Amino acid sequence: MKIIGIIASPRKEGNTAWIVNKILEGAKEQGAETQLFYLSDLNIKPCQGCFSCHNSDQGCVIKDDMQKLNYTIDSANAIVFGSPIYMTQMSAQAKIFVDRMFSRFSPRYSPYFKEESAAGKKLILTFNQGNPDSSLFQTYIDYTKHMFELLEFDVKEVPVITGMRNGPAQERKDLNTVLKNTGSSLVSE
Ligand SMILES: Cc1cc2nc3c(=O)[nH]c(=O)nc-3n(C[C@H](O)[C@H](O)[C@H](O)COP(=O)(O)O)c2cc1C
Repeated sequence: MKIIGIIASPRKEGNTAWIVNKILEGAKEQGAETQLFYLSDLNIKPCQGCFSCHNSDQGCVIKDDMQKLNYTIDSANAIVFGSPIYMTQMSAQAKIFVDRMFSRFSPRYSPYFKEESAAGKKLILTFNQGNPDSSLFQTYIDYTKHMFELLEFDVKEVPVITGMRNGPAQERKDLNTVLKNTGSSLVSE
């Protein structure tokens, strides 16, 4: 089983990276092969809204690292996608990436659809935030989960880690086992 981690925080030693890596660690212990991407290392430009991906057989007109990432997503069985909450929403890096996922919408949206759909690919969507109140962004998080379901991902779990203003995630002893279990259940389910 191949699982890819996508980190949408610019901080390579930050909370999002630690959380995604913990989930991948749990999956690796169950024999999964994993690969990690930091969106801030990739050249992914914002969607230009030209609809070429839906109205022509050219696919997306922007030739950048999104092709490589789409190819890797197609080759994976599961994705772990992590973003910090920035200004009540996903990070800018995450939003640029999900807008570019528009080209992956299923054939019922476009007869020219070329890229494989995400149907059947498992997804763990994980957010983390400074505020300790887990209900604060729940509506937004539910909406984002629904967006990934529209892209036909099989969203398995949406761990939301709160209270990050009190210290880094790695100091939270309670998270270690929980996150590794999330990763291992991706493989065993
Ligand atoms: C620009 C910016 C905006 C933020 N906005 C929020 C917010 O709206 N609500 C919140 O609870 N935390 C907010 N935070 C805190 C981050 O979500 C939190 O520190 C997170 O753990 C950072 O993840 P990282 O270590 O992977 O960068 C913000 C942090 C930054 C840098």
